[in-house]
Amino acid sequence: MGLPWIGRLLLFMQLVHGVFCWGKYGHYAVCKIAEGHLSEDAMGTVKKLLPNWAKGELASVCSWPDDIKWNYNWHWTSSLHYVGTPNFKCNYKYYRDCYDSAGHKNKCVTGAIFNYTKQLFSAYQGYNPRLKYNLTEALMFLAHYMADVHQPLHVGFTGDLGGTGIKVGWYRRKTNLHHVWDTMIIDTAVKTFYGSDLSSMIQAIQRNITDAWSQDKSSWEYCIHDNTVCPNLYASESVRLACKFAYRNATPGTTLQDDYFLSRLPVVEKRLAQGGIRLAKVLNQLFSFQVKIGRSSR
Ligand SMILES: *[C@@H]1O[C@H](CO)[C@@H](O)[C@H](O)[C@H]1NC(C)=O
Ligand SMILES: *[C@@H]1O[C@H](CO)[C@@H](O)[C@H](O)[C@H]1NC(C)=O
Ligand SMILES: *[C@@H]1O[C@H](CO)[C@@H](O)[C@H](O)[C@H]1NC(C)=O
Ligand SMILES: [Zn+2]
Repeated sequence: MGLPWIGRLLLFMQLVHGVFCWGKYGHYAVCKIAEGHLSEDAMGTVKKLLPNWAKGELASVCSWPDDIKWNYNWHWTSSLHYVGTPNFKCNYKYYRDCYDSAGHKNKCVTGAIFNYTKQLFSAYQGYNPRLKYNLTEALMFLAHYMADVHQPLHVGFTGDLGGTGIKVGWYRRKTNLHHVWDTMIIDTAVKTFYGSDLSSMIQAIQRNITDAWSQDKSSWEYCIHDNTVCPNLYASESVRLACKFAYRNATPGTTLQDDYFLSRLPVVEKRLAQGGIRLAKVLNQLFSFQVKIGRSSR
């Protein structure tokens, strides 16, 4: 009778798992990179907010929103991992695109980033911190969705479900284009170039941030009108990258190999870097004691 139910459940979870998120590696990498750029104030508050099982490590909770989204009580969060854009338009607009499948406004990845940033802002930078929200959850959601919005196919076309509907081969395996970008490119890179050690890959990205990309870092941190966070900008970048790199030469039935892998890996590594730097910037601003003092004179 095939697999026992637990085996089937695990298989099912594995199948659905990759469907709408950077894999565990991607989320871990973004949060690790962010940890390396947190201020002392921010690190202190993050550690206070983290649940016990995190053992003081932000990166260890960054896949939590993926782990819970199949739970009935959390099912409403499943649309918060992505935003669909009109087919072949290669652009993104908040008011046009940020809906869930039932048409509820703001229920998408950019809406969620605004939402959880606002909750943390009102608690840590507001005048009247009304603690009606669970700020531990707000932090874990924010850290997760900041990474998701940087995965180009999380801002992909509605018609193919962000590449999930595009069946492709990845070397000898059968998969879909979305999963290639969530997981396969990173997994293959870790195996091929980093001796199967994710932390070596993270270190290589971190070296680039302090070296080759050090000039770009402040432009990544820039937000229009001095806003704390600007998810609309990150989503616009993502859909452009989806068109330029993810969808290109990846029509249904294609087998993707070295050409695709080697030319797309640098895009993925840069998105992980940008996600991490921007997450750190948001948390540093939210949890800075300075800002609060500055603002109270307004
Ligand atoms: C904002 O967060 C709260 C608490 O998790 C949730 O109840 C609400 O539905 C969220 N709204 C959006 C647009 O994500
Ligand atoms: C906040 O959320 C976390 C994760 O869901 C949970 O473990 C914790 O008990 C919640 N705290 C409160 C005060 O409800
Ligand atoms: C480091 O930056 C260079 C130049 O942009 C790029 O070619 C390379 O792929 C990057 N490596 C990593 C690990 O990010
Ligand atoms: Zn996700």
